[in-house]
Amino acid sequence: MSKPKVLITRADIPKKGLNMLNEKCELEIWPKNCPMPRDELLKKVSGKDALLCLLTDKIDKEVLDAAGPSLKIIATLSAGHDHLDLSEIKSRGIKVGYTPGIGTEATAELTVALLLATSRRLFEAHGEVINGGWRKCAWSPTWMNGWGLRGSTVGVFGFGSIGQAVVRHLLGFGVKRFIYTSRSPKKEGTELGALYVSFDELLRESDFIVITCALTDETREIFDDEAFAKMKKSAIIVNIARGGVIKQEALIKALKTSQIRAAGLDVMTPEPLPTDHELIGTPNCIIMPHIGSAEVTTREEMATLTAANIIAGLEDTTMPEKLC
Ligand code: DGY
Repeated sequence: MSKPKVLITRADIPKKGLNMLNEKCELEIWPKNCPMPRDELLKKVSGKDALLCLLTDKIDKEVLDAAGPSLKIIATLSAGHDHLDLSEIKSRGIKVGYTPGIGTEATAELTVALLLATSRRLFEAHGEVINGGWRKCAWSPTWMNGWGLRGSTVGVFGFGSIGQAVVRHLLGFGVKRFIYTSRSPKKEGTELGALYVSFDELLRESDFIVITCALTDETREIFDDEAFAKMKKSAIIVNIARGGVIKQEALIKALKTSQIRAAGLDVMTPEPLPTDHELIGTPNCIIMPHIGSAEVTTREEMATLTAANIIAGLEDTTMPEKLC
């Protein structure tokens, strides 16, 4: 009997996941470590039983039409799924697998790194070592002073597993108050000593704002001019969720006019950001290339879960993480 056909849109899928699939399926793998060009995706998805995609692949009606009726499973190697047209996928009865939860700790860890890098000016300080600034002052009482987390109010926007993990990771930093905004109060908030507040209150009260929500119609560009105007001038914002949650022109304006102090971004619009993009030239902005979950064990686990989702979907058994 012939094996089910699976299209994989990237070469560097961790081996453990690929080996699992290789045993049971016929794989066609895009041979490069960059996104599969759209025309290739449309060509190669045709007649496949399953598609293993990444958050860089937009899976919409056009792709589904190109795939044809054979496509039964889409498994994304990501927790986020804003790149998938779910209503179109659902209407065709295609099952969707994803990888929620696995990247939580790694992403929370990177959030802490961004909070420290922005508040303690780590990249600027490193620049001083390279550009000779350090040699001019040796050690000086106010030189390279930053603003610690101790005694601060940290506001978390979106209080799912990552938001909660960020609070947990920060418990040792002497933060005075944790507040959060989400659809409704959560018992985990109470357990962690974090207070549920309105969006307005979060904006006005926070010294640090951490964005960890999903990108939805409700959250798209919710951080706009009006929101930045409500924030403290000393506020630092960190986004590890999706770039689309922030209206980027508003952020650039807020940073350039010192409406807020700094930003640490792991996500932005577009990704990858062109090297001549205004945001890159903005000195009080630290940018990472979407590496929240880029940690060896995490990515291996994401790959094995994605493979398990595909195999279960194809064998019509329970998918370990089924989105729909
Ligand atoms: C996800 O899984 O959606 C993350 O953004 C990947 O880093």
